[in-house]
Amino acid sequence: MKILYDEATLHRGVAEMAAEIEKAYEGRQLTIVGVLTGSVVLLADLIRQIEQPMRVGVIQASSYRGATTERGDLIINSELMLDISGRDVLLVDDIFDTGHTLENVVEKLHEFSPKSVKSAVLLRKQGRQETEYEPDFTAFNIPDEFVVGYGLDYEDMYRNLPFLGALEQEDLDHHEQMNQETQVIKT
Ligand code: IMP
Ligand code: MG
Repeated sequence: MKILYDEATLHRGVAEMAAEIEKAYEGRQLTIVGVLTGSVVLLADLIRQIEQPMRVGVIQASSYRGATTERGDLIINSELMLDISGRDVLLVDDIFDTGHTLENVVEKLHEFSPKSVKSAVLLRKQGRQETEYEPDFTAFNIPDEFVVGYGLDYEDMYRNLPFLGALEQEDLDHHEQMNQETQVIKT
């Protein structure tokens, strides 16, 4: 696997984004909403680097896809989300690719009458955007490669890697082989 950003680089990027967020909200109370599942690692790191009062909650969005760039149907579950009415909301997600996920989640949040909604992402993939919606804060711009680690997954694996890596053909082959072995054990 090719390493794009090591732990220290990720930490630095998140710290810089946290500083920008602090400046934008200047002591106002924030309500941070992380998009499950990809944002969990970023969420944990980011909230500890923003030194101001905040409420934290989650929303779930899932589009059922693996390494392919095809889009599945997006399912948004806001049932377990905290109350955001009248609040300054900052939505946090792992990656802005085509932009459809974030655009749809932001639209969903507006149904709950927040005072404002902004968004922060760890990564933004270049040359892939299909929406007018733009994230307000971005830690890193990356080339068009499929990346995993630091919360990002391929078929729900690799989220626990502390670095950000790009999957190569031999990683995909290895992944397939592991899947087949698991199938054998299950049957
Ligand atoms: P979008 O709707 O096309 O912007 O895609 C956003 C979602 O697709 C993210 O929240 C990820 O779950 C997934 N995704 C897009 N690109 C990658 C990638 O390179 N690695 C892992 N997940 C990705
Ligand atoms: Mg995902």
